[in-house]
Amino acid sequence: MRKEVVLITGANGEIGHDLITHLTEKENTNILALDVMPLDEELRPKCERFIQGDILDNMLLGRLVAEYEIRAIYHLASILSTKAEFNPETAHKVNVEGTLNLLRLAVEQAGWQGRPVKFLYPSSIAAYGLPSIEAKAKAGKITEEEWCRPITMYGCNKLYCEHLGRYYTTNYRQLAADQSPSGIDFRSIRFPGLISAVTTPTGGTSDYGPEMIHHAAAGKPYNCFVRPDTRLPFMAMPDAVKALLDLEKAPKENLTKLVYNVTSFNPTAQEFYDIVMKAFPKAVINFVPDDARQGIVDSWPGDVDDSAAARDWGWKPDYNQARAFEEYLLPAVAARYQS
Ligand code: SER
Repeated sequence: MRKEVVLITGANGEIGHDLITHLTEKENTNILALDVMPLDEELRPKCERFIQGDILDNMLLGRLVAEYEIRAIYHLASILSTKAEFNPETAHKVNVEGTLNLLRLAVEQAGWQGRPVKFLYPSSIAAYGLPSIEAKAKAGKITEEEWCRPITMYGCNKLYCEHLGRYYTTNYRQLAADQSPSGIDFRSIRFPGLISAVTTPTGGTSDYGPEMIHHAAAGKPYNCFVRPDTRLPFMAMPDAVKALLDLEKAPKENLTKLVYNVTSFNPTAQEFYDIVMKAFPKAVINFVPDDARQGIVDSWPGDVDDSAAARDWGWKPDYNQARAFEEYLLPAVAARYQS
């Protein structure tokens, strides 16, 4: 018999760290972890198995189908927005073809199991693209359907993979004689910038938030690459994990969308700076805007409307801005860099 597992791709990334810890400690889940990078030592005992490998390796994915009964997939592996601009075609391969490979794997799994396989897909505010800072200021909270004109390769990839998820869920092989559904139960969340106390991001454009706080706590000077007036929605990592788990558990009949916005707080970079300076008064932080990265952040919304998630699956963040900093981020990052 094949062992029942939950597959997590990009397991060693920021979301992966917290998700693995939560799924094993609170829900006793058997995790099959996959990442191109080695998995951090402290995560290994929490997983049924870790495989260091590439989501573009179809032979590897084929072997997983043979060995495991995968009841759900958290497909977290991705090349983030800044990194993707340095090699857009590679990013497309990893972000789109990689997702397609995982969707194909999910179809096969659902077929063998005779039941739907849940496919949890983190999308991003990068799926949006506002044409100017004036439009951004005027738009306010935007819904899932507005301003979907991304200007980055990563944003295009995320938006397209949302559409792929919709296709596999509702129109897969629609001309086939048997018309059988794919068996994929695709659910996606458009995340704002995420801030973790235990990891730092690699290659995103919302990174100035987490980088400011981690540099300050580590006693390292930091040049913030956006203007002080720059506003983005953010969320503390425990809320991001909660959102994924809550959406996974939501009864399907309650879901009116396949893709949901979530958010928590949306400070300007100046507000971020003020909070960090108050906590670490000796920190050295300068604003040195990088025009190109600023342009990307300026195209992302300053706030999003997450009322559909609240209505359909009871979404509500545990950490507002004050609680995120005072009870989660500041004490944990201070402790992390003291030792
Ligand atoms: N945090 C991501 C990035 O900056 C957005 O999803 O690329």
